[in-house]
Amino acid sequence: MQVVADIAAVRRAREVDLSATWGLVPTMGFLHEGHLNLVRQARRDNSRVGVSIFVNPAQFHNPDDLATYPRDPERDLALLKQEGVDLVWTPLPDQVYPAGYQTYIHVEEASRPLEGAARPGHFRGVATVVAKLMNVFQPQRVYFGQKDAQQVAVVKRMVEDLNFPLAVVSCPTVREADGLAMSSRNVLLSPQARPHAACLFRALQAGSDAFAQGEHQAKSLRDAMRTVIDATPMARIDYVSVAHPETLAELDVVAVAALLSLAVFVDEVRLIDNIIVGETACAETG
Ligand code: PAJ
Repeated sequence: MQVVADIAAVRRAREVDLSATWGLVPTMGFLHEGHLNLVRQARRDNSRVGVSIFVNPAQFHNPDDLATYPRDPERDLALLKQEGVDLVWTPLPDQVYPAGYQTYIHVEEASRPLEGAARPGHFRGVATVVAKLMNVFQPQRVYFGQKDAQQVAVVKRMVEDLNFPLAVVSCPTVREADGLAMSSRNVLLSPQARPHAACLFRALQAGSDAFAQGEHQAKSLRDAMRTVIDATPMARIDYVSVAHPETLAELDVVAVAALLSLAVFVDEVRLIDNIIVGETACAETG
């Protein structure tokens, strides 16, 4: 496994075997099974796998959030080696955003609601860094988790709009035994708060169950989710949404499919989760 920091070294490693197919898994490190599941899917689909580890300052709205973002580079590299990853890119912020940097990508509509509304500038930072990572790596496929559904929608839109010659692959959310979606931020939960964090998945299940029983009014589905969170100690709703899975526009009635999503503060740690109802999540586009 090659570990490199500068862009020229990534390009050189990438050009060694031009017949290889590359899968890229962008990450911010502090890896868990959710990330490793993406790596394994990339391993199955491609002859070479690249992983980037970069805590991207441009996507952090809140400086404290950036400062407290968990990091453990040595453990990350050991895990990636076990997974048979070929190339790891661990750039420094100055290498990605050198002095004088001024080019950003704004995916307009898909970035607006939900996480985009709660975290201004977040998807501008995500779209910009993902475009740069793809431009440097030039992978055939790039892998994202459905855990961050809006991120998938934003990246798919950008890839299509800017004609990146690659496929965006989205992989299912990996969960803890109680349903809590794995996240690097979960370590920030206190032992007292941790059991309550399962409320997000329970709320999504309540919405999904209501839909399965024939409730297609979006307001009723939102209410079903809210009821679960409101009954959970230490939990405070940021938003609850029933939206179109691609445009992310809020729905009145679920005709075919919907993205049920929510953001909840559990003892001041902000967690997000989602599920799609009405269809099975699509796999590959591009
Ligand atoms: P990060 O939060 O490190 O996540 C990297 C990838 O792992 C993302 O595609 C995310 O959706 C996926 N992932 C995280 N938890 C998951 C889970 N429980 N199940 C399945 N997939 C999961 O997302 C980012 O980094 C950044 O925004 C990035 C795309 C790297 C751009 O900076």
